[in-house]
Amino acid sequence: MKTTVDERQSPEATSASAPAALEIEDLTVRFGGVRAVSDVSLRVAPGELLGLIGPNGAGKTTLFDAVSGLNRPAAGRVLLSGRNVTGESALARSRLGLRRTFQRQQVFGRLTVLDNLLAALEWHGGGGGFMADVLALPSRRRRERSRREQAEETLREVGLWEQRDTYAGHLPVGLARMMELARAVVDEPSVLLLDEPTSGLDDTEAERLIGVVHQLTEKRSTAVLLVEHDVRFVMNNCGRVVVLNLGEVLMEGTPEEAAADESVRTAYLRG
Ligand SMILES: Nc1ncnc2c1ncn2[C@@H]1O[C@H](COP(=O)(O)OP(=O)(O)OP(=O)(O)O)[C@@H](O)[C@H]1O
Ligand SMILES: [Mg+2]
Repeated sequence: MKTTVDERQSPEATSASAPAALEIEDLTVRFGGVRAVSDVSLRVAPGELLGLIGPNGAGKTTLFDAVSGLNRPAAGRVLLSGRNVTGESALARSRLGLRRTFQRQQVFGRLTVLDNLLAALEWHGGGGGFMADVLALPSRRRRERSRREQAEETLREVGLWEQRDTYAGHLPVGLARMMELARAVVDEPSVLLLDEPTSGLDDTEAERLIGVVHQLTEKRSTAVLLVEHDVRFVMNNCGRVVVLNLGEVLMEGTPEEAAADESVRTAYLRG
């Protein structure tokens, strides 16, 4: 799917007054004496694709880690659909519909593509426990069947059906990135954090990947926060961007406003 400037989300469609699927309030993360993220606040509405950009070391990945529960903020709050999850584990957050992909690819290389998705469903949805395994309860078998159907449907939708029995470690980078996305979206997340999902992809692969993301925002109202180095790609696909620099929000606005902003240009030149 080719996404043009005209097809991207309009800022009006993603008004900041809509109830937030993800809300970050005054978040600060410290590593020793360094404030890697400093008093950051932002909101992502259901169905919005918000770009998060900024030079190397700006704090984008650290922010994602704090939102997903992989590091502990020194101050501030994270809310999912209004619920404060700041003190909750990564697993608890994932069970509330939060998903992410990682800047450095993370696939289970010794599992097939299909099994990667089934493992994700098991992790997000819970396994049913020891007694269910021992007794092989019919409910567990039913759940397994429906999870398999769910995983297979997702693989068809993202164009990985042919590769379903391939070991994930054998996939070329473009398909591996798509599989990471498929694993994150197989059970329709409410909030999705994508950390440079198109890194290593050519233009066609990047367009296919972002096409899947657009479908999620449009059809499932998933709220997406997209970190990308390619600013042009963000401009083509996001109606609104937040620019981070040295851990702080430098500006927030349309991609055109960001591109025209002198402080943003300066930050990128320094970064
Ligand atoms: N585990 C850590 N321990 C100490 N400092 C860290 C740690 N992780 C990140 N940092 C520092 O925090 C700051 C923000 O890093 P982060 O990786 O979040 O930036 P980023 O915006 O994702 O950069 P990039 O675009 O290169 O991925 C940097 O100064 C980095 O060196
Ligand atoms: Mg990063």
